[in-house]
Amino acid sequence: MAILKVARLGNPVLRAPAPEVPVADIARADFQRLVDDMVVTMREYDGVGLAAVQVHESLQVAVLEVAENPRYPGKGAVPLSILVNPIIAPLGDETEEDWEGCLSIPEIRGLVPRYKRLRVTALDRDGKELDFVAEGFHARVIQHEVDHLRGHVYLDRMPDLSTLTYLTELARYGANR
Ligand code: NI
Repeated sequence: MAILKVARLGNPVLRAPAPEVPVADIARADFQRLVDDMVVTMREYDGVGLAAVQVHESLQVAVLEVAENPRYPGKGAVPLSILVNPIIAPLGDETEEDWEGCLSIPEIRGLVPRYKRLRVTALDRDGKELDFVAEGFHARVIQHEVDHLRGHVYLDRMPDLSTLTYLTELARYGANR
């Protein structure tokens, strides 16, 4: 397994909508290796999620895991999940704002509104169909990662860019609002 280089904002790979993973490719060794490498890369950089486009692979696959993450303390746990070709639909129109960061936009946080509840359908790394409801921070991470697969970053979802702050300044001065 290998720690992969993470594409940073400005790299065109982050702005191109990723094509679906052909179902027949899921069992291939190179696809399975990509998933393994994405997991170790996410953990290496203390991410809670990572989309394939962030490691220069334009494919609809994302990994996520929330387990007492030092970058997001107190946010609850989400077991390691692999989402291939995910589709999300909001359940209700209730949204909430919270801080987000992104490994492709280092050191920065901004307040982003997201749907509180989602229905998620996807395939897992074995090609098995997933169909579940995600809420709260779990739903937020999934919306962030699916945005990556569509060529969006969280900055595009911010109604008020004045909340942007460096992490060190957020700790020092608190929210800028
Ligand atoms: Ni991100």
